[in-house]
Amino acid sequence: LFSWYQNELIPTKELKINFTDDITGQLRGFRIFTACVRFGSNKKIFKRKKHIKRLYKSAKSIKMKSPYSKTDLNKIIDSVVEKNKDYDGDIQFDIIFSGGKTSSDGFTPLGLSTLIILSVKPFDFPDKFFKEGMKLVTFAFQRPFANVKYTFYLPAIFAHLTIVKDQEADGIIFVDPNDNETILEGSSFNIFMINSNDQILTYPLNGKILKGITRSIVIKICEKFKDLEVLEQSFTKNELINSKEVFITSTTRDVMPVTNVDGFIINDGKPGKLTMELREALIEFRR
Ligand code: PDD
Repeated sequence: LFSWYQNELIPTKELKINFTDDITGQLRGFRIFTACVRFGSNKKIFKRKKHIKRLYKSAKSIKMKSPYSKTDLNKIIDSVVEKNKDYDGDIQFDIIFSGGKTSSDGFTPLGLSTLIILSVKPFDFPDKFFKEGMKLVTFAFQRPFANVKYTFYLPAIFAHLTIVKDQEADGIIFVDPNDNETILEGSSFNIFMINSNDQILTYPLNGKILKGITRSIVIKICEKFKDLEVLEQSFTKNELINSKEVFITSTTRDVMPVTNVDGFIINDGKPGKLTMELREALIEFRR
């Protein structure tokens, strides 16, 4: 697989980042990205336009200077996709804008951000997640600048090293630290629940979660193709535990069933019927 850095296409394994040219990104964490996937047989990045749009919107909202115009970035992405065209499997492209050169205190980016396109095999999730459903635990935290997709995952990783490990769970969901009960989003995914009236609920876009691209697609599939009612409204941990079905969404996970939250079994403890139908519908949609 080939990645892009400093005007060059290079084998991902040989990618070496120049640290001193990018102190704001590498040391201070002023760095945003989007993770998109070219699914095997398709040869095109799924929802590429939406990913690029979110990346530029993220940059604008934090006053980061984009390294290229959208048109030029698209040409570069074309060349990266082309260079990898003979690769058989799925490819995840992490398109990263990283802070760049800095003033002496390291807090003021001096020029444009740096572009890195990392081409990798997507994360491999165990089959068990789909067959038995995931076990998630809650963690009180709200991502700052939540509608920006940045590379700071320290709180989520800390939670994985502590509560996820201790409770032998598979991942975490953030609950609003202001009330300790409102479900926001996961470490790297959005979360949905289905209530007893078969209404599908997910947290609204009010600046406290990332506007996931898979979240938007799944909402559209529910409303347009499956005639299901989606309510973008908040719900509590208690409502989640007592719901009919729970699932999560992200670019690399598609739709994944959740069957246990904080040790409480959801419904009969099996992946939900609608959840698995939505998963199939999403996979079908991108064919
Ligand atoms: N994560 N929320 C957060 C905090 C995320 O990092 C992500 C994506 C999502 C889901 O967004 P989308 O549907 O656009 O992928 C929600 C990527 C996939 C990752 O880090 O693996």
